[in-house]
Amino acid sequence: QELELKLEELEKGGFDHFMLKEIYEQPRSIRDCMRGRINCEQGKIALGGIKEYAEKLKNVERIIIVACGTSWHAGLTGEYLIEEYSRIPVEVEYASEFRYRNPIITEKDVVVAISQSGETADTMAAIEIAKEKGATIFGICNVVGASIPRITHAGVYTHAGPEIGVASTKAFTAQVTVLTLMALYIAQQKGTLTTSKLTSLLTELNGIPEKIQAVLATNELIKNIAEKVKDSRNCLFLGRGSGFPVALEGALKLKEISYIHAEGYPAAEMKHGPIALIDKEMPVVFIATKNSSYEKVVSNIQEVKARKGIVIAIVTSGDREVEKMVDYCIEIPDADEAFLPLLATIPLQLLAYHIAVMRGCNVDQPRNLAKSVTVE
Ligand code: G6P
Repeated sequence: QELELKLEELEKGGFDHFMLKEIYEQPRSIRDCMRGRINCEQGKIALGGIKEYAEKLKNVERIIIVACGTSWHAGLTGEYLIEEYSRIPVEVEYASEFRYRNPIITEKDVVVAISQSGETADTMAAIEIAKEKGATIFGICNVVGASIPRITHAGVYTHAGPEIGVASTKAFTAQVTVLTLMALYIAQQKGTLTTSKLTSLLTELNGIPEKIQAVLATNELIKNIAEKVKDSRNCLFLGRGSGFPVALEGALKLKEISYIHAEGYPAAEMKHGPIALIDKEMPVVFIATKNSSYEKVVSNIQEVKARKGIVIAIVTSGDREVEKMVDYCIEIPDADEAFLPLLATIPLQLLAYHIAVMRGCNVDQPRNLAKSVTVE
């Protein structure tokens, strides 16, 4: 047993927990995910796993994404990316709902199943149903050779490496990276983006691992913020546009590992409910980076401050306007809106991690949760 313990210490590579190690691995895992797939100079993307379907993608009228948990959140970022760049309507479905609803699917549809483990029972059942109805099924999986890659027509692996922490971190950002590549790949096939736009987006994507490194450098600051809010009973996460799935993922991370009740909401929906909960005890995490919805988010922050909520804002570095309004600020490097989820998720992972550690929770194996859910 002593030997097993030592082995585990070695596997954690000097980190206290697998989750922290995996959070820190993200610059590398994202680089691994892009390796051999992008050519920045020529503005070209190659996705070997789905290249036989390039023609099909050119004419596809609808894409349906099915997934569960964190993978479903990645799906929501995919909806934003694919609709934005390739102008194809996307629907994102919980696999568990999709499978029991007699869904309307035809041979013309492409269904993208996202799953870290490649074993989730509901996602597998959703694939089988879509397949029976003649759809083309792509998989986005992390575990090579798992069940889902075997029942799909084609797919793209995330190559994030084994993820041990039950709460998904590096697998999520790798899924988002693959979805970004897929969105740009479809845009390339359809011609919805110019080569020069593709070149600049790919160049920026290529620089994301370095920017994540800069976000990881704010760890001590995040730990200090965690110390201040660790005893909260509730927490809200708000964002707009591509910041909305980030808010959902931030809330999920916190509830999974710290057992604090947390909810993610589109910031504008706050006034239709969550605002009633805000008082001086309520931390509210805002994704308030400088992008198209910045001004709107700033006014949502003011609404929360007017009710004495404790605001933690993820902002674009150098933003002094929001800094003046809020209690705590975490700066992330500036980036195109498309890449916001890859950067803004990192501080939320760290925040959840530190809060959970401070509360004495078992971060790598939270109660009642399993790494892969192979039963209904
Ligand atoms: C479980 C895990 C989550 C994961 C979800 C979907 O709930 O604890 O981290 O997001 O299953 O798993 P999958 O392997 O299909 O991505």
